[in-house]
Amino acid sequence: MAKRGPTYACQACGAVYHRWQGKCDACGTWSSLSEEAQAAPVPGGGRAPAGGRARGRIFALESLKGETQDAPRIVSGIGELDRVTGGGFVPGSVLLIGGDPGIGKSTLLMQACAAMALTGRRVVYVSGEESTSQVRLRAQRMGLAEAPVDLASETNVEDIIATLGQGERPALVVIDSIQTMWSGEVESAPGTVTQVRGSAQALIRYAKTSGACLILVGHVTKDGQIAGPRVVEHMVDAVLSFEGEGAHAFRILRGQKNRFGATDEIGVFEMTGQGLSEVGNPSALFLTGRDQGAPGAAVLASVEGTRPVLVEIQALVAPTALGTPRRAVVGWENSRLAMVLAVLETHGGLKLGQHDIYLNVAGGLRVAEPAADLAVAAALVSSLTGAILPAGSVYFGEIALSGAIRPVSVSAARLREAAKLGFGSAVMPAGGAESGDGGGLGLKRLGHVGELVAEIAA
Ligand code: TYD
Ligand code: MG
Repeated sequence: MAKRGPTYACQACGAVYHRWQGKCDACGTWSSLSEEAQAAPVPGGGRAPAGGRARGRIFALESLKGETQDAPRIVSGIGELDRVTGGGFVPGSVLLIGGDPGIGKSTLLMQACAAMALTGRRVVYVSGEESTSQVRLRAQRMGLAEAPVDLASETNVEDIIATLGQGERPALVVIDSIQTMWSGEVESAPGTVTQVRGSAQALIRYAKTSGACLILVGHVTKDGQIAGPRVVEHMVDAVLSFEGEGAHAFRILRGQKNRFGATDEIGVFEMTGQGLSEVGNPSALFLTGRDQGAPGAAVLASVEGTRPVLVEIQALVAPTALGTPRRAVVGWENSRLAMVLAVLETHGGLKLGQHDIYLNVAGGLRVAEPAADLAVAAALVSSLTGAILPAGSVYFGEIALSGAIRPVSVSAARLREAAKLGFGSAVMPAGGAESGDGGGLGLKRLGHVGELVAEIAA
């Protein structure tokens, strides 16, 4: 058997090496490798020992019919949170919530704990960052000081699991945060990826055997990676991220992975003096403060998960003073902008090579769907030509490399949302039958970007 030397784990991404090196090849971080303690070798090199007993039981899949129903759910009582988890927490499941420090993770989870505790279930909130009196102070500020939540300020996972074993079995356990946890069975220093991984493993094992739902909080680093907690992403059942722009009061909870639900749903919250409040109508929020008399703004009728959301796309196209024009995008993909620009130049007859171009999705929302192409193109053409787009119009449609405007999904829901918010017309793809009665909107159907350019410049 090969000699087992020490191994080294990158503290940023978790990559493992057999020799120390200055830079992690996997993520490019410098000085991030630290030595990991060895796990005891598996006897027999991983093969079943001679005379071993077969302890695992094997079931025929169809024989389990009738023994399981749909995964039962425990609703948190916070609608926007339940929407993202896919209808509530699943007992025995583990959820990781990541986000920048200070974004409101502890606030959200304290509210969820309080709401669930009020339904009579046992809920335990373990903070490794704040003392119990600090946690209580925060709860008091949110008017939740009377909620029957069990609080603990503890960082050792063995102690936590032993404490959880006392008394009634908890329905929900929150660990805030996983980076502060350490296990006595792991020999690395607290805060290292090895400790994060080891602590998470122990806590996950507890959740699976006890049937409690476990929520792990993880802080992310500046570059948007859940460093440390990244290594537990594959061990958990669901990964949610809590996002927001510093200057804006609203926060978006987004599913990144979910074994029990869809990952494209978003939950929208607003941070207030009394904690987070749910935003039932995000479109109204994203459209507040809209400057309707300026060129370069188009309202996109987008769909996040199953929910239509209207959001303003802002473009600024200005002659460049530099040799290489600038392209800057917030809230959308850079490569997608480059593609729309190329199509507008080739098939729309626009000259954009000598212009700086800035694109912004208002309100800090991040749009990923191709239906945004048409709204982006409209905003760009409007800014370049100085023609103001009609304030009562929404835009959606995918633009192909050929310049064709292609139909997108769930048009009817987009139109209904626009009608609900008082919009009078929609500019949308010519193809695609489904759009219902158009929600009473005037529909302008376009088949090619050339028609869009002509329409706006006219
Ligand atoms: P917190 O939940 O502690 O963030 P995280 O756990 O993600 O690090 O939220 C901290 C921020 O939220 C802090 O800047 C203050 C603000 N806040 C409010 O604006 N209102 C409130 O009611 C609470 C509790 C916090
Ligand atoms: Mg916190």
